[in-house]
Amino acid sequence: MLSANFGYFDEIREITIDFALDFCAISHYNDYDIKIGGTGELGELIAVLSGKGGTGKTTVCAGICTALARDGRSVLAIDCDMGLQNLDISLGMSDCGALSFVDVSEGGYDLSQAARHPQFEKLSFLTAPINRSAESIDLEAFHKMVREARKSFDYVFLDAPAGIDAGFELAARHAQRIILVTGADPGAVRDAARAGQKLELMGKDNVRLVVNRVNKRIFSGMSTTVDDIMDQTGLPLIGLVPEDHNVILSAAVQVPLLSYSQRSGAVRAIRAIAKRVQGQNVPLSMK
Ligand SMILES: Nc1ncnc2c1ncn2[C@@H]1O[C@H](COP(=O)(O)OP(=O)(O)OP(=O)(O)O)[C@@H](O)[C@H]1O
Ligand SMILES: [Mg+2]
Repeated sequence: MLSANFGYFDEIREITIDFALDFCAISHYNDYDIKIGGTGELGELIAVLSGKGGTGKTTVCAGICTALARDGRSVLAIDCDMGLQNLDISLGMSDCGALSFVDVSEGGYDLSQAARHPQFEKLSFLTAPINRSAESIDLEAFHKMVREARKSFDYVFLDAPAGIDAGFELAARHAQRIILVTGADPGAVRDAARAGQKLELMGKDNVRLVVNRVNKRIFSGMSTTVDDIMDQTGLPLIGLVPEDHNVILSAAVQVPLLSYSQRSGAVRAIRAIAKRVQGQNVPLSMK
């Protein structure tokens, strides 16, 4: 039986998910290879995408990047959300005066000048440019930059904007792995399914789903299960992240979630995803 810590308010509550059996049949996890990593000579390029906006891409991306850096992996996080960039806040790097990725891809700066995280020394960051649209990005220069970055970093993460247009394509085009983040609400799931179809048309077969803001009460109220979400999107799961007030509180004080809370449900779920990204076979539980 799976159990989850939903981290309500100040108390950490271990809630046994007896709805886990209908919520996510164990057989699914045996069927899917949820390993997503392995280091070769070049680092991996991983895009974090969704269909609908606000599903938690930036939260999940920042969480995985900091967890990987804590595990000793070198990581470059790139915010691809032009105009609405906020990966810096979730990383706790808004005061770092980070270069944007176009400063590097088109502006003559070197990748080694990417902002370094003040606490996670293995984590570097490039923000998104302001006043540029995804359509105006020089794709060849962008892809040359990320190819170069893969020589220096174990992982390069792209935090995509909402929607499935130019920004989605920019992030997805050359990604070797894709993490698609959805909520449980019907709009998010339908958009995740559309995003999955688009990725299939783009020839992407290495797509894994994160269901974010999992909440027992909401799931039972909507009579939905993670199985339903996997069926509707046609995608295998790499993680379930519970609804957790620490996510909002950490962003409010601009401290990375992993530094803000060591034991909250979202932190444990995200650290488990980071382990799976590294190829470790971590059971799908949110204990
Ligand atoms: N597991 C969670 N528990 C509680 N709040 C969360 C959780 N995940 C995300 N949030 C909150 O949901 C909001 C949206 O999250 P986030 O910015 O990560 O989404 P996004 O998909 O990147 O949005 P956008 O599409 O605008 O880029 C934020 O206020 C964030 O703090
Ligand atoms: Mg975002």
